[in-house]
Amino acid sequence: MTTNTKQQQENKQGYFGEFGGAFVPPVLETKLKDLADFFYKTAFTEDFEKEFIHLLKNYVGRPSPLYYAKRLSEHIGSKIYLKREDLNHTGAHKINNTIGQILLAKRLGAKQILAETGAGQHGVATATAAALFGIKCKVFMGKEDTERQKLNVNRMELLGAEVVSIDAGQGTLKDAVDAALGYYIEHPDAYYLLGSAVGPHPYPTMVAHFQSIIGKEARKQFLEAEGKLPDSIVACIGGGSNAIGLFKEFIPDEKVKIYAAEGAGEGLDTKRTAATLNLGKRMIFQGADSLCLADEEGNPVGSYSVAAGLDYPGIGPEHAYLKEIKRVEYHAITDKEALDAFKLLSEKEGIIPAIESSHAVALAEKLFKNKNETVIINLSGRGDKDVERL
Ligand SMILES: Cc1ncc(COP(=O)(O)O)c(C=O)c1O
Repeated sequence: MTTNTKQQQENKQGYFGEFGGAFVPPVLETKLKDLADFFYKTAFTEDFEKEFIHLLKNYVGRPSPLYYAKRLSEHIGSKIYLKREDLNHTGAHKINNTIGQILLAKRLGAKQILAETGAGQHGVATATAAALFGIKCKVFMGKEDTERQKLNVNRMELLGAEVVSIDAGQGTLKDAVDAALGYYIEHPDAYYLLGSAVGPHPYPTMVAHFQSIIGKEARKQFLEAEGKLPDSIVACIGGGSNAIGLFKEFIPDEKVKIYAAEGAGEGLDTKRTAATLNLGKRMIFQGADSLCLADEEGNPVGSYSVAAGLDYPGIGPEHAYLKEIKRVEYHAITDKEALDAFKLLSEKEGIIPAIESSHAVALAEKLFKNKNETVIINLSGRGDKDVERL
């Protein structure tokens, strides 16, 4: 357990500065309070950590390598290392969190697992974890996303999950979360396995804790490779789980600069964007006090990004806080910049990144051109699901 996690543990109401909390109907209030208590009581015990680490090692394939990307480094003019979350079982960082939460669900005796998914990576990771423990699984996914991430729909079904296609709104991640929360309110006995560091307490805290394995490994691996800490670290950001997973361990190291790339979609000056940290307004959205894209009247609006996993108008409360205290810089990367980086990494390193992760590569290319810095990019997932998007 890191100092950060310990400090976070003290804030049992789930607030990061003024952001966070749990704003839910009464039927879920007790349920989430019990879940928070259970998490703090269970997830830090030796028995739990042993099982979690055992599965991460033998089932997920951790530690994921920290790979020095020589040809990409020469192209950019800085020393770039990739944290290879794309090599995890199921192909993204999402599995770290689902393994952690399924172990909680199992101990709680859950008979049904619910999840939402955008890019389908969290849906696949949840269906996988549910299959591993023989628990029934239902995944809510926006209709638009079922079409643009068809490969992952097929994978979830093969793993035995029921995929519920949501026609409401724009048929993207926001609508899937709304549907999952709605179903959960009616079936509070199910375990809702939320996939990003968003939503009501305790989810942002739990998800960040289970994902913090990324930063713990990366810090150690970088020190071994370079004998010092990196100058900068970079991750893409949808709801915020892979980013906080990498960042948490480095936040106390003031010399390490931290950057996140959100989906600008067609641009910050268009309405077709998912750049919540650049354009969002403070409000209560999907159970937490954080930032969200809004219209002139301050009502939440839908988002747009070529990357289904970044196509979300909300953001985890810890990121809203890290932006406010200026510990992390949040940049917006357009669809075009991300697609160029998707091709760049494929051609320079023989690694096809997820279109979400390509946003982080594009940001690194912009920020570190001929800067001679040492940089870690979190390669959050692989791009098999995205090859048809070019
Ligand atoms: C590969 C990949 N990276 C990043 C994300 C964004 O999610 P988060 O911000 O929670 O890491 C997703 C979401 O589906 C994803 O599949």
